[in-house]
Amino acid sequence: MARIIDASLTGSSEGGCDPRALHGTWGALNAAAVRGLAYSDDVKAKTDALYQRVKHVVPAVEWPAYAPLIAAINDMKRAKNAIILAHNYMTSEIFWCVGDFRGDSLALAYKAAQTDAAIIVQAGVHFMAETSKILAPEKTVLIPDLRAGCSLAASITGADVRLIKQKFPGVPVVTYVNTSAEVKAESDVTCTSSNAAAVVEWAAKEWGMDRVILIPDEYLAKNVAAQTGIRIIAWHGRCEVHERFTAEDVAELRASYPGIIVLAHPECPPDVMSAADFAGSTAALQMYVEQKHPAKVVLLTECSMSDNVAAASPDVDFIRPCNLCPHMKRITLEGIYDALKAMKYEVTILEDVRVRAKQAIDRMLALPKETPRAFETGRPPVAVELV
Ligand code: 13P
Ligand code: SF4
Repeated sequence: MARIIDASLTGSSEGGCDPRALHGTWGALNAAAVRGLAYSDDVKAKTDALYQRVKHVVPAVEWPAYAPLIAAINDMKRAKNAIILAHNYMTSEIFWCVGDFRGDSLALAYKAAQTDAAIIVQAGVHFMAETSKILAPEKTVLIPDLRAGCSLAASITGADVRLIKQKFPGVPVVTYVNTSAEVKAESDVTCTSSNAAAVVEWAAKEWGMDRVILIPDEYLAKNVAAQTGIRIIAWHGRCEVHERFTAEDVAELRASYPGIIVLAHPECPPDVMSAADFAGSTAALQMYVEQKHPAKVVLLTECSMSDNVAAASPDVDFIRPCNLCPHMKRITLEGIYDALKAMKYEVTILEDVRVRAKQAIDRMLALPKETPRAFETGRPPVAVELV
């Protein structure tokens, strides 16, 4: 498990890394200073309670670097009637201290559709900000860094989907939300990792078909095929974070940490899913830890997720293999501060594209709201038809 052991060279124990260290505590301190912000008594008073939320994962010595930006962001949110939607992969000082709503991509989409705020700041990646704009066109949606993309979203275009539809006329197109608005606009219904199997089952029934197109994540498609028994036509997209986990990693984790519970995200390869104890969306993984309180656990997903779950479950021992999402890590506290201050970068979508994409998302949101559906692990692999 060279990669995981190598990751420990980044500085923390148990094979983990500190996503905040990428950017640097001292970088944040400097970021606050150049914006004229300091750790004053007023800032301390405003943020002491917030520190309690992250004290298990953010060392006290680092707090004065983050607190001035956190206080200023929270003040600006109130003044501008803005909310921050924070994905589970945000670093903990963002997730727990400036995020108003926290969760997986499905939960954040529901919030975007419901909020009364005038401004949504997406602490997540670009496709998530587009989803918010699609659902809440009258609101200003900001993404703090336009480079916050996604390897899955980048793997497919609207023109690709049109070609797939030509090849398989009449077969429903289920599209993972990790895609651009123009791809969603070509789709029949969207799904997330919380509801992918349910949406595929629904689409097969609704269209009266024994097969469904599920794009663009090849591994998610294979994992859904193994759960549902429905024939799946798939695309060759991969998540650059989850594709790196291997079944050998799981075996080595079990050998190194006897009794460890292995949780995997369904963007992982099928043999990783088979070898895991439990699999599901980021929300499902979080719920598992909160409800079962395993003594020792590893989350085969993005690094910050472990910190965020650990902050709420300090009694659980997390082993942290280090797979960072470079796109998620583009979002920083100072980026959020600058975004709110200068009202940048505003997400816009052509109205015709937005309306068609919204239809696909609305179909998903109209399905009965379930708790995030777990993927049964230990299933044999099932072949899909790759286009
Ligand atoms: P969730 O829908 O599980 O939050 O996942 C989004 C994502 O980008 C995973 O890599
Ligand atoms: Fe995309 Fe993977 Fe990053 Fe999620 S973790 S945003 S799927 S690249």
